[in-house]
Amino acid sequence: MTTIPPSRHLIVTIDGPAGTGKSSVARAAASRLHLEFLDTGSMYRAATALALDRGIPVRDEHAVAASAADAHLRFDWTTDPPTMLAHGRSIAHRLRAPDVDASVSVVASLPAVREVLVGLQQAIGRSHARLITEGRDQGSVVFPEADAKIYLHASPAARARRRADQLRAQGRHADEAEIARELAERDDRDSRRAVGPLRRPEGAVDLDTSDLTFEESVDAVIEIARRAAEQALPFASAAGNTG
Ligand code: DC
Repeated sequence: MTTIPPSRHLIVTIDGPAGTGKSSVARAAASRLHLEFLDTGSMYRAATALALDRGIPVRDEHAVAASAADAHLRFDWTTDPPTMLAHGRSIAHRLRAPDVDASVSVVASLPAVREVLVGLQQAIGRSHARLITEGRDQGSVVFPEADAKIYLHASPAARARRRADQLRAQGRHADEAEIARELAERDDRDSRRAVGPLRRPEGAVDLDTSDLTFEESVDAVIEIARRAAEQALPFASAAGNTG
């Protein structure tokens, strides 16, 4: 039984590098547990797309942050996955575009942008208190008091192979060596930045998915979330046992 009682507030954070399948795993686990799913990478991607589309240089920290703050970034929670909205309209079609891919880690390194987006993420945590949230700094900075924290990673070779398989499934060209190089560069930028760097949050469960199938990874996340939900309900569990 994987359901968590509807009255139970539960925040589960999943952090880790690019290309681990983190988003798909987090989304599938959230769906099976009837929790909501927050993809924080989408918010950095939206901030990047907004800047590019307005001709704002992506290194102009305060202009990029102001354009993200002005856009009233929020999610439409009625869709699965939730749709990223900017200025009240979907910006989903821009999030995975090559120009956004190329600039998003620069935008994510800007402290003023992180301040805006971390504030929005914490507000989402308050209004959606049954949440699996996924990113780079969710357990370390955004939700340090989360009920469960997971650091999800995989070997560089496994990550490059998965990314290449994805591209090929979309009929696109994939060079695994080049993908591995790009992933390593992105990890390096994400973990060396001054604010909210990618790192294993204190108290996080380490989940290496190199040798796990997708389903096994989802099951592992579900088990960690279920255990966290049970642990924090000592009285409810005791009552359940006597009944
Ligand atoms: O997970 P993703 O590929 O959609 O993330 C896009 C970029 O945003 C990536 O460079 C890492 C960054 N990011 C971040 O710095 N902090 C987060 N909480 C989520 C993503």
